[in-house]
Amino acid sequence: MQSYQLENLDIDTFLSEYWQQKPVVIKGLFKDFNDPIDENDLAGLAQESEIDARIISLHQNKWHVQQGPIKRFDKVCRGNWTLLVQGVDKYIAEVSPILAPFSFIPHWRLDDLMVSYATEGAGVGAHIDQYDVFLVQGKGSRRWRVGEPGNYKEVCPHPKLRQIEGFEPIIDVVVEPGDVVYVPPGWPHDGITIQDSLTYSVGYRAPDNLQLAESLAMMLDKGDGNVRFTDPKRSSQSNGAYVSVKDINALKQQLIQAINSDDFTGALLEAMSEQGIPEYPLDDDMSLEAVSNQFAAGIGFVPAAGVRPLLCDGNAGLPRALFVNGSQFNFNQEDTEWFEALASGNIINANCCLDAPSFTFLETLTTLINNGYWEWYEE
Ligand code: SIN
Ligand code: CO
Repeated sequence: MQSYQLENLDIDTFLSEYWQQKPVVIKGLFKDFNDPIDENDLAGLAQESEIDARIISLHQNKWHVQQGPIKRFDKVCRGNWTLLVQGVDKYIAEVSPILAPFSFIPHWRLDDLMVSYATEGAGVGAHIDQYDVFLVQGKGSRRWRVGEPGNYKEVCPHPKLRQIEGFEPIIDVVVEPGDVVYVPPGWPHDGITIQDSLTYSVGYRAPDNLQLAESLAMMLDKGDGNVRFTDPKRSSQSNGAYVSVKDINALKQQLIQAINSDDFTGALLEAMSEQGIPEYPLDDDMSLEAVSNQFAAGIGFVPAAGVRPLLCDGNAGLPRALFVNGSQFNFNQEDTEWFEALASGNIINANCCLDAPSFTFLETLTTLINNGYWEWYEE
C-alpha cells in the first residue's frame, strides 16, 4: 500500500522510497517547534533592496504580485496575501536549526530557505516547482494538497504567476507547527492557510546542462584546457560536402577531454559551492598575525549566516580543498582535522583539534574572515 505519511524521519527509508520519487508528510518532525523569526522580521527583510521578496495576493478575485523591496505594506497586503522572502538563511543565522534535520542531503544540493507568511485563506495558487522542497510548517496551520505529475493546463492570472488547473490530490493534509511536507520536482501542490501561518521552504537545486556548460565555458574562457581541433594525416575525401562521423566524434572527444580534466572538476566544485552569499569584506583587513594571536588567545570564530562550505578529501581525483561560496582553499593531509572543523559550521577555536593549527589553516581563516564569510563568535 502507498504510504504518504511518516511518523518520523527514517533517513534510509526516505531516501530509498521518497526523495525525488514521491511526496510525503512527516508529522511532528520538529518537536515543540518554535519559530526563530516572525512576520515582522520578514517584513524587515522585504524592505531591503538586495533581498528577493514578494507579496502575492488575491484581492477582489484578482491576483496581484508586488516584487520587493516593499516600502508600503498597507497598499499590497490586501485580501488574502502571502509575503515570501527568499534566502532567509543568508541573513538570519537563527533559522539554521530548520535546515539541520535535512543535512543527510549534501550541502551543495541545498539552495536556500524561503520563508513565507500567509494570512487566513491565502496561498500562491496551485503550481509546480522544478526543485525538491521540504515545506516546514511554523506557527499557524495550513492545508496542503499534492497531486501527481501530469500535463496540467497552465494558467497565468498575473504575468509573474504560473499556476496550474485541476489536479487531483493524492495528499490532502492539515499541517501544524513542526510538521513537514516533502514535494519532489514536478508534483503539483497548493497550500491554503487555515490560521495565519509561517512556512519554511527548504529548497534544493539541480543544475541543468546549460548551467554546467556555463561553468565549462567560464573555465575555457580563462584559457584552461581550451585546445583547438587538429586533424593531421587526414585521408582524402572525394566529396568535400560530406561530414564524417569520425570528425564529429573527434570534436565531441575534444570537449569530453575538457570535461574530464582536473580543471573542470575544480570549476564544477567552485560552482557547486557558489551560494550567492553577499561578500561583506571587513573595512580594515585583519592580518594573519592578528588572527593567529586572537586564535591563540582562545577567541572563537563561526561561519556567517548561511555559509555552507564544501569539502573534498583529495581522493579519487578530487582536490584536497575547502570550497566557500565559489572560492577554493587547498590544504595538506596533516591539516584535514582543522579543515573538517572549519567545514563543520561549528564554532572554531584553538581547542578544536589536537595538533596546533598550521600556517595554511590560519591563512585560510584570515581570508575567510576578511571576506566576511567567518566572523567572531559572540556568546
Ligand atoms: C508558500 O510558502 O506559500 C509557497 C511554497 C511553495 O509552494 O513552494
Ligand atoms: Co511550491
